[in-house]
Amino acid sequence: MEGRMRVLTMPNAAFAQGEVSVERGLQVSIIGGCHDCHTEGYSETEGKIDPEKALMGSSVGWRGPWGTTYATNLRRDAAVMSERGFVGMLKRIRTFPPMPWYNLRAMEESDMQSLNQYIRSLGKPGKPAPSRIHPDKEPTTPYVQLVPPQMPNN
Ligand code: HEC
Repeated sequence: MEGRMRVLTMPNAAFAQGEVSVERGLQVSIIGGCHDCHTEGYSETEGKIDPEKALMGSSVGWRGPWGTTYATNLRRDAAVMSERGFVGMLKRIRTFPPMPWYNLRAMEESDMQSLNQYIRSLGKPGKPAPSRIHPDKEPTTPYVQLVPPQMPNN
């Protein structure tokens, strides 16, 4: 299964400027920190990407003044959108914390395209992650309590 092999390979290859490929997408997803939150078990295993769980989101919540959010299943986004749609979504993205949506402004368009190709190569979209829970509601899943000193909005 070539797709799975790719997922398990840590790329350290040099890519040409503007190159769009699945391999570059994997590299971008690692450097961009997407697995940190969107792949269950990634930080606990110090950076091993479980191909069954890669970018499928997490059921561990992030709780703060915004409620409790869950890293979403990115395979589902990629599955229902064209590459253009996906790139457009990343360019306009704005979410609740702790998703670092503002960091995506620094990402090259070709890297967004590579990311889309990599996510699409991962296989079945699978189930959605839990939806955001209102601040007054107690989550039923495990969660991380975040206490930011100040939230500019939300
Ligand atoms: C610190 C944890 C964290 C990191 C790092 C992170 N995300 Fe997220 N992401 C989240 C959370 C939590 C949400 C849900 C936010 C919400 O509910 O408003 C989210 C939401 C999203 C969404 C919105 C999906 C939708 O259907 O609306 C996209 C797209 C996304 N992330 C892509 C990425 C990409 C690409 C990267 C890497 C460049 C990344 N994320 C890195 C935590 C993270």
